[in-house]
Amino acid sequence: MLSVLQTNFNGIDGLTYQNGPRPQLTDNGVIIRMSVVPISPTDWKLESDANATNEQLANLPRVIGIQGTGRIIEVGRNRNESLLNQRVLVVNPSGVYSEYVLSENPDWIFPLPDNVTNDAAAALSAGTALTIKHEIDISSSDNLVITGANSVIGLTLLQMIDEQQRKIYPVVTAMSKEYFQEQMPGLTSYTRKEVPQLNGSTLIVDIVGKKDLLNHLATKTNNVQVVSIALMKDDELTQFKFIHDEFSSDNYRRFINQLSSGQLKPIINKTFQVKQTKEAQHFAKETHSRGRVLVNFDAS
Ligand SMILES: NC(=O)c1ccc[n+]([C@@H]2O[C@H](COP(=O)([O-])OP(=O)(O)OC[C@H]3O[C@@H](n4cnc5c(N)ncnc54)[C@H](OP(=O)(O)O)[C@@H]3O)[C@@H](O)[C@H]2O)c1
Repeated sequence: MLSVLQTNFNGIDGLTYQNGPRPQLTDNGVIIRMSVVPISPTDWKLESDANATNEQLANLPRVIGIQGTGRIIEVGRNRNESLLNQRVLVVNPSGVYSEYVLSENPDWIFPLPDNVTNDAAAALSAGTALTIKHEIDISSSDNLVITGANSVIGLTLLQMIDEQQRKIYPVVTAMSKEYFQEQMPGLTSYTRKEVPQLNGSTLIVDIVGKKDLLNHLATKTNNVQVVSIALMKDDELTQFKFIHDEFSSDNYRRFINQLSSGQLKPIINKTFQVKQTKEAQHFAKETHSRGRVLVNFDAS
């Protein structure tokens, strides 16, 4: 079976494609034939920086990716037989970029309703958006500034928050203004130059992770607090906090229900074949964000 492996920290081009044996079914496991896996900026960060995340993901070689969708084709004797043939979203920290994945944790597979496509579920980025939403909910700031508002996480967050509660300033690059307006016609976006001087207190939600942008935005208000999902620290800002996503099965079940009911809309750009994973990562990294870039196993 084909897998995409990280064996070094040489970046995207250091990835290798490998043909290896299929994993063996265990009594507590299910085997999933993978269909669709997403690409995110975290992928290329992990591929070039040993300190980008926790130790488990820095142990090489490793199969890349942690979530994706597929169909269960074998069920271990200690698992529920009704899982056979179900389409699922699987979370697997030991990698999902393989034609077949062994999943042994029942809390980390999520059956998909008929009206939720493999693409839509694979593209889910709602856990981080919800983590940001909690920070917004506990803040009493008058203004909310969101950097990288057209990002997949930014647009997912904007689907979750109540626009009436405070004035929202989505900050985007000039190249992404039109796309943002198409996605969120009810909101006005601002380039960094267009952000006005703000009265009252301001919460900046940082999705981009560029210190110069953050420090510039901080000059637009007297009372600023920053939460970032992309920068670990910024010594120039006194009220700065890095936040990260904690995996929650309950949240994943909720997001899948919200996809099914239409409350959450999938944000998808373009799909590549698994043998083009490096090209797909370059495309995602080197073009403006227009939705999640996906990788498909079905034709491999
Ligand atoms: N802390 C956590 O738990 C956690 C979890 C998942 C992801 N993340 C991080 O969250 C970030 C967003 O992820 P995503 O998947 O939503 O990314 P994405 O869809 O690829 O979006 C990236 C955003 O950054 C903007 N951007 C990139 N370079 C920029 C620059 N030089 N100046 C201004 N804007 C710039 C892009 O603007 P354009 O589209 O206009 O280029 C786009 O809005 C990534 O850094 C990722 O690693 C954190």
